[in-house]
Order: sequence, then C-alpha cells, then structure tokens
Amino acid sequence: MKIFGFNILPSTNTYAIKYFDNLEDKNIIMAETQTAGRGRKGRQWSSEAGGLYFTMVLKPENPKLENISSLTQIMAVSVCKAVRKLGAKAYLKWPNDVLYKGKKFCGILSEAVTQNNNFKGLVIGVGINIEQQVIISDKPFTTLADMGLKISKSVLIANILSNFEEMQKDDLVEEFKKLCPAINKEIVVDGKKGIFEDIDKAGRMILSTQNGKEIIFAGDVDFNTDF
Ligand code: BTN
Repeated sequence: MKIFGFNILPSTNTYAIKYFDNLEDKNIIMAETQTAGRGRKGRQWSSEAGGLYFTMVLKPENPKLENISSLTQIMAVSVCKAVRKLGAKAYLKWPNDVLYKGKKFCGILSEAVTQNNNFKGLVIGVGINIEQQVIISDKPFTTLADMGLKISKSVLIANILSNFEEMQKDDLVEEFKKLCPAINKEIVVDGKKGIFEDIDKAGRMILSTQNGKEIIFAGDVDFNTDF
C-alpha cells in the first residue's frame, strides 16, 4: 500500500475523489490537517493538527452493494481492533463509529465514485482523534491521549491497514457484532425505537420494532441509548 502524505489538504476524501483516476487500488491519502474535513450527513469533521486523517482508495474488481458497504465496516473493525491492541476497550457504534466509554474518537466517511452513473470505486475516509488541542463536535467525543494511550500515527495507521488486509478473509458480520455491544439491546435510531437484532451481509441494521422488522440502511443511533 502506497501512502501519499500532505501537510494540509481541504479534505483527503475530496482529494482522493478528484484524483481518483490517477490513483491505484489501496493507495492512501493522508494529511496532518484538513481545512474542510467532511463528516457523514454533510457535517463538518474537525481536523486540527494532532489527529489522524486518511482516505483509502478502493477499486474493487467486482463491485456489489454488499461488498461496498461491508468494506466500510471492515475499516471500522480494523480501527477498533488496533485501539484494543493498545489496551483500551474500544467498541463499535453502528454503522461505523468507534467509541470509548460513550465517547466517539473515530468516524468514517465512505463515498462512491461514479462516472455517468457507472460505479468506478469508492473512497473510505477515516478520522481519528489522537491529541488535538481543539475539537469541535456536537456529540460526546474523546481522544486517544485522553484515553491514556500513546502511539505514533505511523504505527497506528500501519496496524489499521494490516488489520484491514487480514479482515478480507473473515466473517465481517460476526467480527462486527463481537465489537458492537448494542446488539440485542433496545436502541433509538433516527427517532425509531427497537431491538437491534442483527446486521445483514451488506452491513444494514435489522431493527425489530413494534411494527415488525425494519432494515435500516443508514442512520444515527442515539448516544444515550448506546453502550
Ligand atoms: C463521521 O463520523 O461523520 C465521519 C468522519 C470522517 C472524517 C474523515 S477525516 C479523513 C477523511 N476526509 C474527510 O474529509 N473526511 C474523512
């Protein structure tokens, strides 16, 4: 895997999408700071120096919806495992946040890259709070430093990428569920209450509500109903 490092970029995802055709499968774009870091649902991602910001370019040979969304969750599992290896009980919050004691320290934004409605590939952007002095967020957040963890960015990214490679062979759903304590519990997702019963092969949530089972494609699980 080749890593292209920058001091400053508007957004590593935006860069990877703009130069997608010149980049190769598994290339990584990394920046020390981002001036226009982007989060899910059009939110901003606070990207001061001291955090880890990178995007992986993926050009799957056989793009199927189920592979695409599961690649994002493979990345979340890879981050979670890398941080657990340092000794902190990090866990997953569906669809792909990584938390510690109710506070988020990693967010992932995957974007499909298309041309004339044809799928060309995807970019998976990862932001990890490590030791920034300033973080702007309306959700509870933490940093690896606040969690008492010390690790260099180069070792952390190397561990994440090696987990990502290894995970290709594993059963993602089982791996995800092992690290997601909200499974089988009552949760609220985008205002809808139910039991988080399962995750299907495409990474979608199966929520059992009073109206029956619902498949949730994307959404926000309330922080106060997460574990
Ligand atoms: C979220 O939880 O809302 C997703 C946050 C994703 C942030 C990362 S930082 C690297 C990459 N570049 C961006 O602009 N966003 C992603």
